[in-house]
Amino acid sequence: MIDSISDSVILNNGIEMPWLGLGLMKIVNERKMIEAVNAAFESGYRSLDTASYYNNEREVGEAIKSSGMQREEIFITTKVWNDEQGYESTLSAFERSRKKLGLDYVDLYLVHWPVTGIFHETWKACEKLYHDGYIRAIGVSNFQIHHLKSLLSNCKVKPVINQVEYHPRLTQKELRHYCNQTDIQMAAWGPLMRGRLFENPTLTELSQKYEKTIAQIILRWDLQNEIVTIPKSEKANRIKSNAKIFDFEIESEDMVIIDGLNTGERTGPHPDLFV
Ligand SMILES: NC(=O)c1ccc[n+]([C@@H]2O[C@H](COP(=O)([O-])OP(=O)(O)OC[C@H]3O[C@@H](n4cnc5c(N)ncnc54)[C@H](OP(=O)(O)O)[C@@H]3O)[C@@H](O)[C@H]2O)c1
Repeated sequence: MIDSISDSVILNNGIEMPWLGLGLMKIVNERKMIEAVNAAFESGYRSLDTASYYNNEREVGEAIKSSGMQREEIFITTKVWNDEQGYESTLSAFERSRKKLGLDYVDLYLVHWPVTGIFHETWKACEKLYHDGYIRAIGVSNFQIHHLKSLLSNCKVKPVINQVEYHPRLTQKELRHYCNQTDIQMAAWGPLMRGRLFENPTLTELSQKYEKTIAQIILRWDLQNEIVTIPKSEKANRIKSNAKIFDFEIESEDMVIIDGLNTGERTGPHPDLFV
């Protein structure tokens, strides 16, 4: 049972990643970033999720510096954006991200989307950076099963993670099964469906039953499904409250009820249509 905010999953290359992290998309103001990161560290979060696309790596770096947290205590994820992909351009993109973050190394570097015809070259650059010691683990994001199959048949280093849109309306059953089979950890982006589930009657009932917020119910459901989760908030009270998910357990019949909310609905683009 995952019962502490310091619990982590051991990825397929042996490194540990916290089950809960803070998503940082759309926080671009430095003061707000510092407040959010401080609130997260105070609540026990140790993992932060950014991307070159979010245009906030410099602010993330400043927030880490001002927190005084030791580098080895925290887990930093960033990602290579679509127009940065390709072998040489990924190497340069990584260096830009690393410098903006002000870090010697990044914990997890993700291929943000499977850009058709290029992602294999991008992956080779990730493998080089991994072998050179600049990244502790490499993974992908928004990969469908066919993208993973294609990557796995060509790569030297297997991805540790596939970070995909995942919430009660999009449970990604087949993809989850495939990731489990291939020992690729799934991580949930948009776990709160970007705020679209807070009036759902089923979740409202469960919220009353467990005396937890709907956000806490959903994030606990993630953990019990063994999905790494990275809810975003820039509000200290929500950051704190979203982390109070380690002191209760959703009963198995209620897990099934939440699974049953799946409609396949996305808030973001379908990976096969986007790139
Ligand atoms: N790999 C990818 O392609 C990809 C795509 C999208 C996102 N991501 C990552 O995943 C992270 C999370 O996804 P997301 O930001 O799209 O969506 P999300 O985490 O599902 O939802 C974030 C929204 O929910 C609100 N919220 C958070 N906690 C709440 C609470 N307890 N009560 C009420 N509202 C609450 C936030 O508002 P406030 O901030 O105002 O609290 C924000 O509007 C991102 O930040 C990013 O790091 C990755």
